[in-house]
Amino acid sequence: MTKKISVLINKKIKKFNKTIKVAADKSLSLRALMLASQCIGISKIRNLLESDDVLNCLKALKTLGVKIVKDNNAYLVYGNGLNSFKTKKKITKIFVGNSGTTARLLPGLLSAHVGKFYLYGDKSMNKRDMSRVIEPLEKIGCFFYPPKKSTLPLTLEGTSMPLAQKHIENRGSAQAKSLILLSGLSTPGITTLEEKKISRNHTEIFLKKINADIKVKKLKKGNLITLRGQKNLHAFNYTVGSDPSSASFFIALTLLTPNSKLTIKNVICNPTRTGFLKILKEKMNANIKVSNLKKISGELVGNITIRSSSLKSINCPKELVPFLIDEFCILFIITSMIKGVSKFTGISELRHKESDRIKSMERGLNKIGIKTESTYDSLKIYGNPRIKINKKVDIFSNYDHRVALSWAILGLVVGGRVKIHNFETTNTSFPNFLSLIKSLGGKIEIKKN
Ligand code: S3P
Repeated sequence: MTKKISVLINKKIKKFNKTIKVAADKSLSLRALMLASQCIGISKIRNLLESDDVLNCLKALKTLGVKIVKDNNAYLVYGNGLNSFKTKKKITKIFVGNSGTTARLLPGLLSAHVGKFYLYGDKSMNKRDMSRVIEPLEKIGCFFYPPKKSTLPLTLEGTSMPLAQKHIENRGSAQAKSLILLSGLSTPGITTLEEKKISRNHTEIFLKKINADIKVKKLKKGNLITLRGQKNLHAFNYTVGSDPSSASFFIALTLLTPNSKLTIKNVICNPTRTGFLKILKEKMNANIKVSNLKKISGELVGNITIRSSSLKSINCPKELVPFLIDEFCILFIITSMIKGVSKFTGISELRHKESDRIKSMERGLNKIGIKTESTYDSLKIYGNPRIKINKKVDIFSNYDHRVALSWAILGLVVGGRVKIHNFETTNTSFPNFLSLIKSLGGKIEIKKN
């Protein structure tokens, strides 16, 4: 368990001109580990994100009998093929920590295992919706206990005869989509998934890379994904690119700090992850350039160069929401600091993240005098470029890494006294955040909670 800390920000960051590399991508790191466990042979994963979420997933796989060792800069995963988890106990206990992606994807792999698995998470994870996991897996023949409960802790009982089904995903959730695909890997016949709202497609790209029998057909609205299960998969070499969601905090910091320039190297630029860049560049007048685009392990990666910009308020297009789902907290911070009213609709999924992100962010913004209006599915922010923080402001991260990181950026841009509690939560995705801020000349004091 990471020690509890809070951080205090007193001073504005001064102008900077640097090149950095941010943490490796969390979604890809988790997928790489989970998929390697289903392949035959030793997979080698380079630049794996060593954050709490990923390390909890790694431990969970070890509990399920998968050998994983660190070899210099790479992790070696000794896969034994589909459905090869080994458990000794009647009920295997699996701790997923704060990781929604582990909590939602791992059941896909467990679904075809005969056995019982007791899944539990931390305080925040245990409040999050699991009905999106329960419904599709009950359809293929799994059981969940206690019945009618839709949050962790839960016991999953897998089935020896999973049934290939037709599923519909209409939330725009990549986790819900991926769990069905992972379950489909061990299911005889063809699992079909109609994706009504397109979400990040890392699982599909990964499965194609390792020669799974998967097809993605474009529909008028969304995609039709078909996967023929029970095909043996073979070990792979994989290099994880940098996380665009972690990059977003440094993009915001550069845009809002006068006379600054920053290049962030090797960031995942898969179009299903670049909604934040698209909105900033095309609708908000941000000076951002992407260069050196190339594919690494099947994923588009590029260098992002950002210069301080005079930004415009925004009416955020609903259809882009899944493509910037993890960047809303920082986008709320940006829009609160520029002139004009910004509007966001179709964002109810934010209420099901590590915290209710609409509520968490509104609370903090109101504390510093920013007016907001919200409904279950929308938020309006009345920006104020002249914002000043005179008294110390206490921000509670609600065990949500992206809330904590977003407030650190506000503190560094505005100056004034911002204290962010439970800042250790940022270790779930971005363990080297504070050292990167230091390398740009920013000052953040670490306090015991
Ligand atoms: C993720 C998908 C998104 C995202 C999460 C990671 C993934 O969640 O918010 O941080 O790796 O598939 P949803 O699928 O619930 O939108």
